[in-house]
Amino acid sequence: MRVSGVLRVLALIFTLVTTLIFIRTYMSFNMKSIRLLRWLAGSAPKETRVVKTKCGLSKSCPANFFAFKIYSGAANVVGPSMCFEDHTIMSSVKNNVGRGLNIVLVNGTTGTVLRQSTFDMYSGDPKLLVKFLTEISKGMLVLVASYDDPGTKMNDEIRKLFSNLGSSYAKQLGFRDSWVFLGAKDLKDKSPFEQYLKNDPDTNKYEGWPELLELEGCVPQKMY
Ligand SMILES: *[C@@H]1O[C@H](CO)[C@@H](O)[C@H](O)[C@H]1NC(C)=O
Repeated sequence: MRVSGVLRVLALIFTLVTTLIFIRTYMSFNMKSIRLLRWLAGSAPKETRVVKTKCGLSKSCPANFFAFKIYSGAANVVGPSMCFEDHTIMSSVKNNVGRGLNIVLVNGTTGTVLRQSTFDMYSGDPKLLVKFLTEISKGMLVLVASYDDPGTKMNDEIRKLFSNLGSSYAKQLGFRDSWVFLGAKDLKDKSPFEQYLKNDPDTNKYEGWPELLELEGCVPQKMY
């Protein structure tokens, strides 16, 4: 009991610290961000009543933050889904997801969806993804969800482009791995918003695929 309590506190501290790093690198350091940092350091009050949160998040985001939730695909059966500010942008129901990598670009200041696309990483042309990633400009948020196989057509150029958006795991992404990620062009450090599961026959939840991943959080609105 005690140990799990300590672990939970450590996990909370880790989350806070990574969030602070994200804010520090993502925003210019002005009075507004100092107030946000104070708010975070003071920690959120405990909610007792049930609140309907954007994207069904486990807790609401503060003002000046965008809510997001990303699910990777489950094996090759259920497609991924991506929600931003309570708006489902890509999902199986919307019939706009595909095998490989599904990517949404959002204006980091306004939260407006700029582009969305799906790239077949099993048999598609990786040059299309290189072009898409190269055209991402400063001030955009990038949401990524894998489905079925994100790895076969992966190459060093693409790995580097994702690493430059703040990804820690793009460099090892392989055949049928699960991956969810939110990054940005102007991050100076690694994004705290990323999860990765390797395709491993010993630990796979489904036959041939690891478990689906869920990533949710509050990302600071970019201010100038
Ligand atoms: C985001 O929207 C603002 C306001 O319309 C605009 O000034 C800015 O250039 C946009 N940024 C990107 C990266 O599209």
